[in-house]
Amino acid sequence: MANPKRIGILTSGGDCAGLNAVIRAVVRRAVGSYGWEVLGIYRATQGLMNHPPEFLSLDIKSVDSILTHGGTILGTTNKGDPFAYPMPDGSIVNRAEDIAEGYRRLGLDAVIGIGGDGSLAILRQLAQQGGMNLVGIPKTIDNDLGSTERSVGFDTAVNTATEALDRLHFTAASHSRVMILEVMGRDAGHIAISAGIAGGAHVILIPEIPYSLENICNKIRERQDRGQNFSIMIVAEAVKNEKGDIISHTNTLGQNRLGGVGHYLADAISKCSGAETRVTTLGHVQRGGTPSSLDRLLASAFGVAAVDLIAEEKFDRMVAWQNRQIVDVPIEEAIAQYSTVDPEGALVKTARGLGICLG
Ligand code: F6P
Repeated sequence: MANPKRIGILTSGGDCAGLNAVIRAVVRRAVGSYGWEVLGIYRATQGLMNHPPEFLSLDIKSVDSILTHGGTILGTTNKGDPFAYPMPDGSIVNRAEDIAEGYRRLGLDAVIGIGGDGSLAILRQLAQQGGMNLVGIPKTIDNDLGSTERSVGFDTAVNTATEALDRLHFTAASHSRVMILEVMGRDAGHIAISAGIAGGAHVILIPEIPYSLENICNKIRERQDRGQNFSIMIVAEAVKNEKGDIISHTNTLGQNRLGGVGHYLADAISKCSGAETRVTTLGHVQRGGTPSSLDRLLASAFGVAAVDLIAEEKFDRMVAWQNRQIVDVPIEEAIAQYSTVDPEGALVKTARGLGICLG
């Protein structure tokens, strides 16, 4: 590719705050600095799968005021594996070639995929099979992608959870209640440990450290004995007890979903401590809203760096944040190293040092 002129950009997987800030940065760098054309692909790979491909031409004016907007102007999906795609007639079809055909029809020289571990793994396989030039940008509120200390969306989610704890603190103290905040994060406890410390939680439960109900109840009773009649708990959605049990439920479509552990713990804690308990499940509030300053910075830096990688013809790479620098790493390496909270790491040590119960 001697002189790349037309690149695609798509957002894939669950949304988060900061995606539009990435799109804006890519367009400003690609159009403004290099004079390229940028096509925004609709709804992840679905815009390439459908023929004619569905896209939006992005010029600098079109991204003028999206820096602070939540969600993604391109739409996204975390359903419909293109290698086993559910068709309207109920059949399951491999649509990988349709996506490669969409890339060719649009005359793309490269595509920037903004995704988490699952999306980047799928995009990489599609790129390899279909001869597409791919550069990845990490985004996920879960912050569980390897090779990068931060992913776009994480900081905003932590700020949202911290603010929720701040609000719960007052009402917990007024009513002498145990307030439980259930947060997302899948198998990684990054949101829970960060927001828990920042928000002054007394109990933080993360999937990486199995909890014992007895330890939690002891902590609450200890506080009651000292006349501290309220407690604040933050619980990651996929926490496990000592037997490894996770609380999940099956929805009407027969899919197994995380969520509900907050209510389970609330009942158990009422029984063992006599405390009145209430549960707040933060859910998708963590994914929406205005991106924090840090997420805007990260999104802007990642967007510029991703376009520069295309200019250098460095593909199959993901931009990453390491030691206060933007670097690039093989996508393969980033998706292979699922990043969870280190039970011996700085944040766990900090929490223990503050006397926080970790279950
Ligand atoms: O991976 C991001 C995430 O928000 C997880 O923290 C959460 O478990 C999941 O997505 C929720 O997915 P959905 O949007 O399908 O409910």
